[in-house]
Amino acid sequence: MPVQRTLLGYPIRLQIPPRRFQLLLALVAFVVITLGLFGTPSSDDIPTYDDVVEHIKNPHVPSIPKPELPSLPKLIGPVAHKPPVQPNSTTTSSYRVIEWFNDFKWRSPFSHDTTLDENRAVLPPLLERPLIYTYYDAPSKQDKATKEAESRLILTWRKAWWAQGFRPTVLSRAEAMKHPQYDLVQRLKLDSKMELEIMRWLAWGHMGSGVLSNWLALPMARFDNPMLAFLRRNQYPQLSWIGTLKNGVLFGEGPAINKAISSFVDDPMLKNVTENKDKLKVLSDLEGGVMIHMLQRAKNIEEAKKADGIAYYDMDIVKKEYGVLAEKLTNATTKAEGLDLLATLINSHLHLTFQESFPEGLAVVKPLPEHTTALTYKAIDVARNLTQCATTPLPKSCPPNRLNCAPCDPAKPMKLQLMSSYQNSSTLYTVSTVPHPYTLTSLHYAKDTLDQQFLRSSAKRDAWLFELMKSTLGEEVGEEERIIHFKEAVAIPESAARSLWLTAERLSHDDLDYVFGFNLPQIASTNLDPGTPAKNGLLNIFPRPAMPEPLKDVNVPETAIIRNEEERLNKAREAIKSKAQQMKTIVDMVEKWNLYDTEAWKFARAWSGRRRVQRKKWEEEEQKFVGSERKSGLKPGGGSSWTDRL
Ligand SMILES: *[C@@H]1O[C@H](CO)[C@@H](O)[C@H](O)[C@H]1NC(C)=O
Ligand SMILES: *[C@@H]1O[C@H](CO)[C@@H](O)[C@H](O)[C@H]1NC(C)=O
Ligand SMILES: *[C@@H]1O[C@H](CO)[C@@H](O)[C@H](O)[C@H]1NC(C)=O
Ligand SMILES: *[C@@H]1O[C@H](CO)[C@@H](O)[C@H](O)[C@H]1NC(C)=O
Ligand SMILES: *[C@@H]1O[C@H](CO)[C@@H](O)[C@H](O)[C@H]1NC(C)=O
Repeated sequence: MPVQRTLLGYPIRLQIPPRRFQLLLALVAFVVITLGLFGTPSSDDIPTYDDVVEHIKNPHVPSIPKPELPSLPKLIGPVAHKPPVQPNSTTTSSYRVIEWFNDFKWRSPFSHDTTLDENRAVLPPLLERPLIYTYYDAPSKQDKATKEAESRLILTWRKAWWAQGFRPTVLSRAEAMKHPQYDLVQRLKLDSKMELEIMRWLAWGHMGSGVLSNWLALPMARFDNPMLAFLRRNQYPQLSWIGTLKNGVLFGEGPAINKAISSFVDDPMLKNVTENKDKLKVLSDLEGGVMIHMLQRAKNIEEAKKADGIAYYDMDIVKKEYGVLAEKLTNATTKAEGLDLLATLINSHLHLTFQESFPEGLAVVKPLPEHTTALTYKAIDVARNLTQCATTPLPKSCPPNRLNCAPCDPAKPMKLQLMSSYQNSSTLYTVSTVPHPYTLTSLHYAKDTLDQQFLRSSAKRDAWLFELMKSTLGEEVGEEERIIHFKEAVAIPESAARSLWLTAERLSHDDLDYVFGFNLPQIASTNLDPGTPAKNGLLNIFPRPAMPEPLKDVNVPETAIIRNEEERLNKAREAIKSKAQQMKTIVDMVEKWNLYDTEAWKFARAWSGRRRVQRKKWEEEEQKFVGSERKSGLKPGGGSSWTDRL
């Protein structure tokens, strides 16, 4: 009996179509499947009229003469659109533009797979920087020198918090005036100290959630300090103050802040300020000030106990620990000088904190060390300045949050060593130069010019990445794992906070101060006596640490050979920059030969390019406010050297 087929319960009759329709159907199905799988043919795939004519004339001549290159991983799959370009995702450079794309897929070996673009590197999505505010209300009659000196102190504050992953913002009375309770507060007739305190809150309440910090409260701890990590999470379930810091740092969410302001303004004690003058004075003199204690009484604020990660240079501690400065600060004639000295002191403490955070010291990585000495000069320059003792008015002093620190001792500076590969250790800081494969190949094989013949016969592929990752990953793992580990070392916050990756071809590195959060020393004493006083006798400068010891088992090249390397490095820079077609072809060939080294180079330069752009944008947005480079009497982007002018 024939099988009865049904569709949705109704019997249906299958009828085999006639043979010619079967053929037609098969053809249609074939076309549909082909289009579905491979997409419509793009114009590149279709031979042009000229191609066809040429092919008919010379049937044996291959139509496009392609350079013979080793087999490369090819992009297979359907043609897709490039993802749209994200705003602010490019920056200029002497060597073609730097382009990036922020995406969660950054851990794949090749950016190209995501961006469909040879030049654009995939970076991890930008981490949101939690807002940290400070309130600054300049007294109306203040001389320019003091104003600029205060601005420089605020700049120190901004740099330090920026380096710790925050977005510092300076508020003023303008924000406070926008708060709905401003007029009411004006009518309360508070004294100036209390008024300043409530103005901070009004400005903060107007902005909404975040951290409110005094501009003399700075982060001085490792990146992974629990308090800093907590603040970075940007979730503040309780409106809180930090007991040990008085009113130096507060954090909370918008509704809680505004509720606190209302409860303060409505407090019965403020109904008649004249009558309650004495009671208010008692609260006002308590550590933390009147507002916090009134809120605490009404249970509208919590006290956070442990916060060893933040140093607060309030006047009490300055008087107690840094007496010389207190004298200057309290005398109107020397106030500006005192402020600059305080900024220098804070800078030295930030630098000291960095040095203490890495007890294993500082490593400059030098893979393939035989011929790459010139490549490490920039990294060593940065590393020596990082290990130098910072210029300071009080060489034996410690930051307020770690009064029992070990002050920097120029006789025993932070350890600085060369290493032939990257060490994954949380107590070691790494500075490395990432060369373009053309630069590396040219230096490593001591060749002024490269060509295809040489590449194929002699050049090892992706040698740099292999050597760099040798001690963490060994020699057995595949290239893909190596590049992914490299990207993680550059970009994961924990390891990004303990490594700096410079591109070898880039000549200036002007935003290092914002990477570290303090100004690197720009001057050193020439004699070897530690702590030579600078010109006016108030600052101590220290000698520059020596060059690191050469690597063991590696011949130290003669000066003449190093000079050759320097020349070669310059030639490589020119080659990569070159617009000449022939040179471009060779550079391209070197990149294709070293796909993973090229990817590492692209990734590292995009990483620092994005960091630069983000910082510049922020500086532009803040330039009208106190604490910007412009308001501090510095040229924008002009770097760090104002401390040296003292
Ligand atoms: C960033 O992008 C915005 C909008 O596309 C543009 O107005 C601004 O000029 C860009 N900033 C920088 C520094 O490129
Ligand atoms: C505030 O208290 C003082 C002294 O007790 C009194 O003289 C004054 O009238 C009061 N002011 C108001 C507005 O209640
Ligand atoms: C303030 O400093 C100036 C200059 O150093 C000095 O002449 C003056 O006596 C100081 N004033 C006080 C009150 O210490
Ligand atoms: C470094 O070590 C940590 C912990 O052992 C590991 O999670 C991380 O992936 C390593 N990083 C690199 C770049 O190998
Ligand atoms: C390091 O210090 C020297 C002077 O000792 C200075 O010439 C150089 O520019 C500094 N380098 C950096 C990167 O700060």
